[in-house]
Amino acid sequence: MEYLEGVGNGKAYTGPSTPFIAMPTTAGTGGETSKNAVLSVIGENGYKKSFRHEILVPRHIILDPELTLSCPSSVTAACGMDAFTQLLESYLSKNASPMTDSLALGGIARAARALPVAVEQGDNLEARAAMLYASSTSGLTLANAGLGSVHGLASPIGAYFPMPHGEVCGSLLFEAARLNIEAMQSREPDNSGLFKYAEAGRIMANDHAMNDVAARQYLLNTLQSWTSRFSMPLLSAYGVTDADIPKLIANASPGGMAANPIVLSDEEISGLIHSRL
Ligand SMILES: [Fe+2]
Repeated sequence: MEYLEGVGNGKAYTGPSTPFIAMPTTAGTGGETSKNAVLSVIGENGYKKSFRHEILVPRHIILDPELTLSCPSSVTAACGMDAFTQLLESYLSKNASPMTDSLALGGIARAARALPVAVEQGDNLEARAAMLYASSTSGLTLANAGLGSVHGLASPIGAYFPMPHGEVCGSLLFEAARLNIEAMQSREPDNSGLFKYAEAGRIMANDHAMNDVAARQYLLNTLQSWTSRFSMPLLSAYGVTDADIPKLIANASPGGMAANPIVLSDEEISGLIHSRL
């Protein structure tokens, strides 16, 4: 804990690591392709912080979809929603680059088709492989481009309430995308994020002739249908109430909020959380 950012005393580790080979058995965080680990203490004075160090990059990564075949449907759904959120948020991030965009869009294309199959037909090896690719790619894009408001809020929600990270992402993703799009349309109609949401929608629909308005609607419709189809719980199922909103906003991860494609007011963020209570 002494080494943990925002928690420890800034101690820097300079030694070697225990050599390790990463073999993910879920398709979600993409932790195997980043130098991040996440440590948390859950409760009233809890925290959930990234622990980053170059030596946390594995020596070897083995992506074997057979290792994910026995992952239960609910865990597949929550982890998959985390991976998809990471891809979409890093694609929309203010710190995105052409290189991370191309990786993110490749992951979005595969996950859009594979996620429902992996959730509903867990023995489909092709869908499992596509989700493993998408999650591993999301680790690369989040580490190099950053994330957005969903992950900004996922830190305090996961710190104060025993809600699994993937469920937090899956619960908030649709409403967060809708809020970003509406805020850009009303305040920043020239924001390139509007085009990017449309581009992501075209990739998800596999219809490159779709116009921007229809493509953004396709994206929102898909995210909304996944939220119910995959039974993503409300935040209130884990005890979040309206009274907790100010504390969640005050402790949102600054990195996630700053990379969001548009600056959201506290009132807008409050509305986002409230919509999932
Ligand atoms: Fe995540």
